[in-house]
Amino acid sequence: MQTDFLVIGSGIAGLTYALKVARACPDKKVTIFTKTTSDETNTKYAQGGIAGVWDNENDSFEKHIEDTLIAGDGLCNERTVEIVVKEGVERIKEIIEWGARFDKDQDGDYALGKEGGHSEFRILHHKDVTGREMERALLEEIKRQPNIEVITHCFVVDIITQHHLGYLVTKSTPDIECFGVYALNLRTKKIEKIESGITLLATGGNGQVYRTTTNPVIATGDGVAMAYRAKGRIENMEFIQFHPTALYEAGVNGQAFLITEAVRGDGGILRNSDGEAFMERYDERKDLAPRDIVARAIDNEMKRTGTEHVWLDCRHMDQEKFIHHFPNIHEKCLSIGIDVAKDMIPVAPAAHYSCGGIKTDEWARTSIRHLYAAGECASTGLHGANRLASNSLLEAMVFAHRAYEDAVKKMKDTSGIEWGNWNRDAIPDWRTEGTTAPKEMILITQSLKELQLLMSDYVGIVRTDTRLERAMRRLDLLHEETEDLYKTTEVSPQLCQLRNMITVGYLIVKSAQFRHESRGLHYNTDYPYKSEQVQNIVL
Ligand code: FAD
Ligand code: SIN
Repeated sequence: MQTDFLVIGSGIAGLTYALKVARACPDKKVTIFTKTTSDETNTKYAQGGIAGVWDNENDSFEKHIEDTLIAGDGLCNERTVEIVVKEGVERIKEIIEWGARFDKDQDGDYALGKEGGHSEFRILHHKDVTGREMERALLEEIKRQPNIEVITHCFVVDIITQHHLGYLVTKSTPDIECFGVYALNLRTKKIEKIESGITLLATGGNGQVYRTTTNPVIATGDGVAMAYRAKGRIENMEFIQFHPTALYEAGVNGQAFLITEAVRGDGGILRNSDGEAFMERYDERKDLAPRDIVARAIDNEMKRTGTEHVWLDCRHMDQEKFIHHFPNIHEKCLSIGIDVAKDMIPVAPAAHYSCGGIKTDEWARTSIRHLYAAGECASTGLHGANRLASNSLLEAMVFAHRAYEDAVKKMKDTSGIEWGNWNRDAIPDWRTEGTTAPKEMILITQSLKELQLLMSDYVGIVRTDTRLERAMRRLDLLHEETEDLYKTTEVSPQLCQLRNMITVGYLIVKSAQFRHESRGLHYNTDYPYKSEQVQNIVL
């Protein structure tokens, strides 16, 4: 297969970019690959909303920039922050034009919410299902665009570079070039070779590396692992954001239901097992302190009191307003016997967001030519050591737009892409010789459990050198076993995902080991202070 613009991922980043390049180049072919259904993405689960400066009387770009920098704890790229905050409002207006509906107040103005770390009310939302609404609007626009093809159930396995033509490619190879991808078509069970002009990785997050996460099962860090294997630059992987308030359900592992931070924005209070509103002991911003602080405080309270969760108390809140703003949460709680008017909600932190990822520049370009990255899989410099709530949908749209501008310019200026001197006709088909059907799925499922357990136990909210060393030793073994399996077994999404998640685990642990300080989301009790030297960890 050949395509002009290849997009891997059908979340907010992939869809926004695809729509824009398709409209700008109606004579070009745009192909979107997604590994399950088109809407099964992290985007669909976004609850709280999207941050943007709308209230020009009380809010300003400066304030949003300042809040983002404070949350990022000294590691944000200030230029990126300015770009996202200033260009973000235009991008939100665009998605509104495409049909996304955000809640309004009685006067017909947008109802703005507040979340941790925000000094003003600036979060646009659609009830408590903002992401679902944005994904819906985007997919409907995509359907109307004739030169876009969405191919579902197609698992991208690897990025094709000159390595596949037999050349040695290392991290220091100057012009690594992306020619396309190999992808496993889950309908035919065959691996296909797809040649592309320009490729965008929009593969989302990696929460599934942990035992409990707010992320759906698709969030396995495939894009980051593929870019790393292709010798692209990966940055700041140690900064995994744990959302403070995932619903705690005894015995439930995997995807945990999120209780949006907007609930605390509307007055919800965290209490420990003694009923104490403990956040005032940790930070003067109490329940609305940035996420790293709240998650660490909860973790500490749980360890101190020997409990598996704390409580979110909403009993004092206006119940009519609660049901109006948070119908999905209300319904979910009722379904498990919790009446928020009378009962407190059990909550615990869960892996939520990857602040680091594939290193990109101002135009979403990766270190590999013709390969862009946007959305959660990218590290643009916006989040630094900790992401400010509701900044991620915004970032995804801003950098999808920037990728589109740069990619279209390249496609048009040179009437085609300037290729290096490679013989693309020589790219080999995927080789399956020497592999057999998997004999025992348990070899994959058990390794996955081991991985998630070790990441949660040793590489969670609080880290130590010893825990990181242990994690690395166990990861080495899992890596060795899984590579053996990969060489001898027919590829399956389960096996590829396991392999990718082990790579992501390795990148998180290695980056954490390199960071000899505690900053933002990375807290190591062996180095409890911030170092004076401010640096990004690039692998
Ligand atoms: P995604 O939306 O995750 O899309 C990834 C796509 O890549 C999917 O289509 C997937 O199939 C595809 N893909 C991945 N690997 C492969 C592969 N190997 N082959 C083919 N396709 C592949 N952020 C906010 O700003 N505000 C919020 O209120 C908010 N709430 C959140 C609530 C929850 C529960 C979660 C989980 C996240 C929330 N976030 C929020 C974060 C935000 O939703 C995500 O960061 C963002 O949606 C990521 O978008 P994306 O386009 O990068 O990736
Ligand atoms: C939430 O609604 O609490 C999540 C917001 C985010 O992750 O930005």
